[in-house]
Amino acid sequence: MIDFADSSYILTGIKKQQLIDFLQDCNNQMRKIFVLCDTNTQQHCLPLLQTKFPQTKSASVFSVNPGESFKTIETATAFWKFLLQQQADKHIVVINLGGGVITDLGGFAASLFKRGVDFIHVPTTLLAMVDAAVGGKNGVNIDSYKNQSGTIVLPKYVYVDTDFLESLQHDEKVNGYAEIIKHALIADNQFYKELSEKPNFEALQSIEKAISIKQQIVATDPFEKKERKLLNFGHTVAHALESFYQSHQQCIFHGRAVAAGMLVESYLSRKMGFISDDELNHITEFIQSLFAFDDKVLHVEELLPFMMADKKNKQGQIRFTLLEAIGKGIVDVAVPIGDIEEALVWFSKQNTRYGL
Ligand code: GLY
Repeated sequence: MIDFADSSYILTGIKKQQLIDFLQDCNNQMRKIFVLCDTNTQQHCLPLLQTKFPQTKSASVFSVNPGESFKTIETATAFWKFLLQQQADKHIVVINLGGGVITDLGGFAASLFKRGVDFIHVPTTLLAMVDAAVGGKNGVNIDSYKNQSGTIVLPKYVYVDTDFLESLQHDEKVNGYAEIIKHALIADNQFYKELSEKPNFEALQSIEKAISIKQQIVATDPFEKKERKLLNFGHTVAHALESFYQSHQQCIFHGRAVAAGMLVESYLSRKMGFISDDELNHITEFIQSLFAFDDKVLHVEELLPFMMADKKNKQGQIRFTLLEAIGKGIVDVAVPIGDIEEALVWFSKQNTRYGL
């Protein structure tokens, strides 16, 4: 039985020795190690992984094209075929080296191969460190619909080391910050205050704090019956935006979509009478200070089909996670379509610039 309340699988840089020991044990026991990465992390992060963990030097590497559009069952199948060609057995260990696409995809593939093999996430983006790699959600997209098939299985370890962030562009760090802000907004007023007063995209302290908020929520409700839905704040709109872009053969950074989603959903929180004008204004100013959006007007009819596919919906109603206050989320709020339209129009008028 997996204990979701046990956070000892999350290793920060200082606990590196634990992973070295595990991998050394794998080497000693002839357990094959596989690394799943994308062409970017193969170039920029694999050498660092091999330096930090020489036990991975003889691992077989499977590299996929980068990007959300490759987070598919077809890519997972290609990886499974590679594993079979390499005579992988039930005792292999898969290391997923990359951002959220790789940890979602690799966790999905490993949790199903031979009905489940051990996997380790080594997140290489801020976003994956504070969100995707923690909590055991694994999945793939179906066409433009995000994360429609998946498993909830914890990795053996998640290794969080900010050295892997060094090759990231500034924009990608800001993107990850969206999920850190989200964790503060749904659970910790003081943390939100600290983040908004002094943004720092690589501070290990903020990363650890964000991870611990997520871990506590997952421990309470691993299978997303209730509390885990808090983590979806900003995501009903964000996933619809990502799907909309993908259906037009374009892409948008997940964090940027989450930032836009948090603005729209904060407006809805105000509209539903939960947060005050002052709170909405504070959130809006803070998020706008970090994210540049363009003038694109968002139409509800373009996003609605994707929102209707959101996993939180029930009985045909679109259900949001909103804010009761800064630092306190509320789940399962059914919002009328007219209010969603109003929020999207408000967002478009914020003199914000929306896009890549
Ligand atoms: N990324 C949301 C969750 O893990 O539940």
